[in-house]
Amino acid sequence: PTIYRKDYTVPAFLVDTVEMGFDLDPAATRIATRIVMRHNPDSASNEIVLFGEELELVQLRLNGKQLKPSQYQLESGKLRIAAAPAKVTLEIETLTKPESNTSLMGLYVSNGNFFTQCEAEGFRKITYFPDRPDVMAKYTVMLRADKKKYPVLLSNGNLIEEGDLEDGRHYAKWEDPFKKPSYLFALVAGNLVCQEEKYTLQSGREVLLQVWVEQGNLDKTQHAMDSLKNSIRWDEERFGLELDLDRFMIVAVGDFNMGAMENKGLNIFNTKFVLANSRIATDIDYANIEAVVGHEYFHNWTGNRVTCRDWFQLSLKEGLTVFRDQEFSADMVGTDSGRAVKRIDDVRVLRQAQFPEDAGPMAHSVRPDAYVEINNFYTVTIYEKGAEVVRMYQTLFGRDGFRKGMDLYFKRHDGQAVACDDFRAAMVDANGRDLTQFERWYSQAGTPRVQVKTQYDAAKQTYELTLSQTCPPTPGQSKKLPFHIPVAVGLLDSSGRDLPLRLQGEAKGKASGETTRVLELTKAQQTFRFVDIAEQPVPSILRNFSAPVVLDIDYTDAELAFLLAHDSDSFNRWEAGQRLATRSLLALTAAVQDAAQAGHAVTLESALNNAASNSEALGQAFALILNDTTLDAAFREQALTLPSEALLAEQTEVIDPQAIHQARQYLRSTLAQALNADLTAAYHANQSPGAYSPDAHAAGKRALKNVALSYLIQGDDATAHTLAQQQYDNANNMTDRVAALTALINSSAPGKAAALEQFYKDFENEALVIDKWFALQAGAHTANVAAIRALLEHPAFTLKNPNRARSLIFSFCNGNPANFHAADGSGYAFWADQVIALNGVNPQVAARLARSLDRWRKYAPALQEKMRSALQRVAAEPHLSKDVLEVISKALAN
Ligand code: ARG
Ligand code: ZN
Repeated sequence: PTIYRKDYTVPAFLVDTVEMGFDLDPAATRIATRIVMRHNPDSASNEIVLFGEELELVQLRLNGKQLKPSQYQLESGKLRIAAAPAKVTLEIETLTKPESNTSLMGLYVSNGNFFTQCEAEGFRKITYFPDRPDVMAKYTVMLRADKKKYPVLLSNGNLIEEGDLEDGRHYAKWEDPFKKPSYLFALVAGNLVCQEEKYTLQSGREVLLQVWVEQGNLDKTQHAMDSLKNSIRWDEERFGLELDLDRFMIVAVGDFNMGAMENKGLNIFNTKFVLANSRIATDIDYANIEAVVGHEYFHNWTGNRVTCRDWFQLSLKEGLTVFRDQEFSADMVGTDSGRAVKRIDDVRVLRQAQFPEDAGPMAHSVRPDAYVEINNFYTVTIYEKGAEVVRMYQTLFGRDGFRKGMDLYFKRHDGQAVACDDFRAAMVDANGRDLTQFERWYSQAGTPRVQVKTQYDAAKQTYELTLSQTCPPTPGQSKKLPFHIPVAVGLLDSSGRDLPLRLQGEAKGKASGETTRVLELTKAQQTFRFVDIAEQPVPSILRNFSAPVVLDIDYTDAELAFLLAHDSDSFNRWEAGQRLATRSLLALTAAVQDAAQAGHAVTLESALNNAASNSEALGQAFALILNDTTLDAAFREQALTLPSEALLAEQTEVIDPQAIHQARQYLRSTLAQALNADLTAAYHANQSPGAYSPDAHAAGKRALKNVALSYLIQGDDATAHTLAQQQYDNANNMTDRVAALTALINSSAPGKAAALEQFYKDFENEALVIDKWFALQAGAHTANVAAIRALLEHPAFTLKNPNRARSLIFSFCNGNPANFHAADGSGYAFWADQVIALNGVNPQVAARLARSLDRWRKYAPALQEKMRSALQRVAAEPHLSKDVLEVISKALAN
């Protein structure tokens, strides 16, 4: 059944307090819950509605009296009590089986310890409850368990009592002083150890910070702890938001569906986003840990203190919190070019994952109108596009204006469950502007396209930018109205310097004279005229990616090379290089396809060579960047990285994965040859001898060195093999080790099999590294379906652990397009098998995998047919979860 946003009604009963007692046992955990409720004066109904799933109901009492089955209705996950009195105390006893809970929602066991995951609707697998985010209550939780097996007992808030019980059991009582929705409830029980530190807030108050992990992992917690302290300080400084608890805990768990969870005072994390040291974690892992620790911590205000009225408002907390973690990460690097590198990374994700989502069968607006399974809506649209929407307020109002809006938001809504409209209202009211049209970013799905036409008038010394916008239809939304699009622009003179910008009719002074101006495109088409422009400029449009749109603009190759060399906006500088590269890559792709149609092997070589003629300019432009040591290494690495195959696929009319792969490999080889000497020099110039440090400068050097290696290995010659082998043998950190191993396995180096085997032996006991081992092989150029099926049989492989399933299956289906889309359809058959297998284990993970065929209609007819039958095979499965069913039926719908 579909749930609609328009059907929202306030809860009939509000909850003041919840007291819970857990008798923890993996086979059967008994949970006693006392809920004190009162009628909501805003509701016309007097029916109590509780949700419950996969529970055994042992006992149900209302105001002290046991309810007989005839006094309530229990069907399809809801328990209803009609005509309830105004004041109600419910006492509920339920039983669950944590050890057989493979969905990892509700209460479950991971490696012998207990954990919970309640967002979005997992609390209903623990007890019957009004499990909706607009019901906020104070919780007191008593945990009881065997003391030997579960020496550590944690829940939200403060520990108020602990002690021993009979039969070797013990207890701990926790009290959360803040009202919260049930999705923020958490408990952890098990054999864990922690790194802890006292930390003094700016106010002088001292708090206790803990990072909990399994025994043996205490050598991997320092970075998470540092990230937590940095997050706390950053939120104080940038937003004036203080940690409101005396104790803040992070717990790592190896079996986890997503990245992490912001439970009040007790954040639970996928181990992938906690555990790090130079031996097991890459620079990217370090950066991700910082971002996710920040993200969950920032939720304490944006999500927990102010939460969502209903799940359609999910982006209220997620979009805002992603924006906050992006800004945090950028500030942690500190430099302008560091900020640009972070921005580039974020935009890559948006384009590579969100733009296709916006163009596919699961397209939805940032505030969706309907869903079948809410877990399917923890998407890049809600998170990343939502963050872009929040960023646009800051682009329009400036940092100070944005801060004013945030302050007003908390002043109005602290302790409340609110909607995206309330956030917009706070931003608008604090800045005194009417932003009615901006609302369309929340209600309309699809990626807008902005077209740019330019006109220079030498006589009048004016320069006109005509911007127009369109947005393609999405399922259920055939017509789109114009968006309110902030377009940051600059104009470069012939020496590459920014011109001061004044719009016609504008007085001199104030904004005029600035070199970057934010134009507001609100109509289908608008013309902006700049005055006093003494020469024909080169426009730099959508600086710092000021809006989540596709920008169509005709540049010559020379203009792109000029922007790549000179634009003061680092993002657009990078962007110019990407446009130049994309042009070559699309021409090469077309050449591969033409050659295939002509049917001669010789034609392929010559076709590629012909199409590659414009790659020469690219090679020169790349060489300039590579050799420009005034630029940060991290930025140079970004500039030298070609658009991914997935990104290129989206830019072709009909996706031909093999042609794209061949074209990209060909261009990489061409560049590697042309730049061989420069790449070799850069490789040697960017070594970082001495102890490993994950800081941005050192990480940037490693990134540049390793991208150089990845080009050099394209030659597949003995020199490159030796370089990769030596790097593998001498690496003192995982970043270099993985980069070397990747190079080796994508070459014919004699040592590749031995290195792969050695890697496994060296890290057999580090689950997160074994994930890398699977992922690396799944992404290799030579990895065909048979090879992946063989890895499924490896003793270390299991579908039950989401990280492991992702490392092999997702890495192949989403990260190796040329092999996944094998012409015989074997990739799709593999995909269908795994979706079906996962469906029985973990519907959430299965539904994620189900989305790998989202874009099936964009492929050639022969592939489409094979994808359709794979989709139909899954659709025909008898016991599909609603998670998988929603994804598959949307993919198959017209
Ligand atoms: N709120 C969490 C975060 O963004 C994600 C939890 C998602 N859980 C889920 N079952 N869908 O940090
Ligand atoms: Zn979040």
